[in-house]
Amino acid sequence: MAQQPGKIIAIANHKGGVAKTATAHNLGKALAMKKQKVLLIDMDAQGNLSQNMGQNEPEATLHSVFEGNEMPLIPIDENLDLVPSDLDLDYADEKLRAQGLPGYRQLSKALSPLREKYDFIILDCPPSVRGMIVSNAMVAADSVLIPVVPEKGAVKGLAGVFRLMEDNAIMNENLKVEGIVFTRVKDRTALHSHYVEEIREDYDHVHIFETIVHESIAVAEAGTMETDIFTHSAKNKAAQDYMALAEELLTNG
Ligand SMILES: Nc1ncnc2c1ncn2[C@@H]1O[C@H](COP(=O)(O)OP(=O)(O)OP(=O)(O)O)[C@@H](O)[C@H]1O
Ligand SMILES: [Mg+2]
Repeated sequence: MAQQPGKIIAIANHKGGVAKTATAHNLGKALAMKKQKVLLIDMDAQGNLSQNMGQNEPEATLHSVFEGNEMPLIPIDENLDLVPSDLDLDYADEKLRAQGLPGYRQLSKALSPLREKYDFIILDCPPSVRGMIVSNAMVAADSVLIPVVPEKGAVKGLAGVFRLMEDNAIMNENLKVEGIVFTRVKDRTALHSHYVEEIREDYDHVHIFETIVHESIAVAEAGTMETDIFTHSAKNKAAQDYMALAEELLTNG
């Protein structure tokens, strides 16, 4: 049982393939290993997070929550639960929109009683900045954590996330940026510094995590083997990185 209401963090970037899902999974697991009670919510109809956690054909999904049913909480590991998703989530959008304003608050409402039970609730968002699913994430979240890969076009996806936050600000004026975390980093030298500077130029107020997550095939392997990086390869550099990221997040409060 969490001591105080849990923090809801949405992991988002307009750009695809920047390790949103890998970060939700492995940061979530790292926090769970640090005795934090963690709930991961798969907000993507592609269901990558669910599949990477061994839930390929979940009986109930986040979609059923939007239909008014209970959160289907699946215990995965010690301190780590999952709400899975599947392609049926795509059908939620229209129904939520038809509800008007309450349609934006469905997730927030459903998570409200769960906040007492978890220290962290992490939302793995799809790479889109439109639609009721991501809006529900922005309305429910306390903060947004943005994974960025230091490569050409890295800064582009950021504008989409900030626009998404602005678009929903009227329903969640307290939404904060948790920070930007560089993922899939091949080195911390010139290239990385170049992108840090580029982001600083446009977003000087935004926190950039000191921790970077290195590129490592083990992260992809772990996902394919339906497990996290720590279970797959505890000594791997990316495992150490995700643990350091969890520590930094806990220190920052
Ligand atoms: N640190 C890493 N090193 C190597 N491969 C990684 C790393 N992080 C993620 N990957 C791989 O990169 C691919 C994209 O990662 P992931 O699915 O987490 O990104 P995403 O942002 O969630 O993508 P999408 O936008 O499609 O939801 C996956 O195959 C994943 O295994
Ligand atoms: Mg993903």
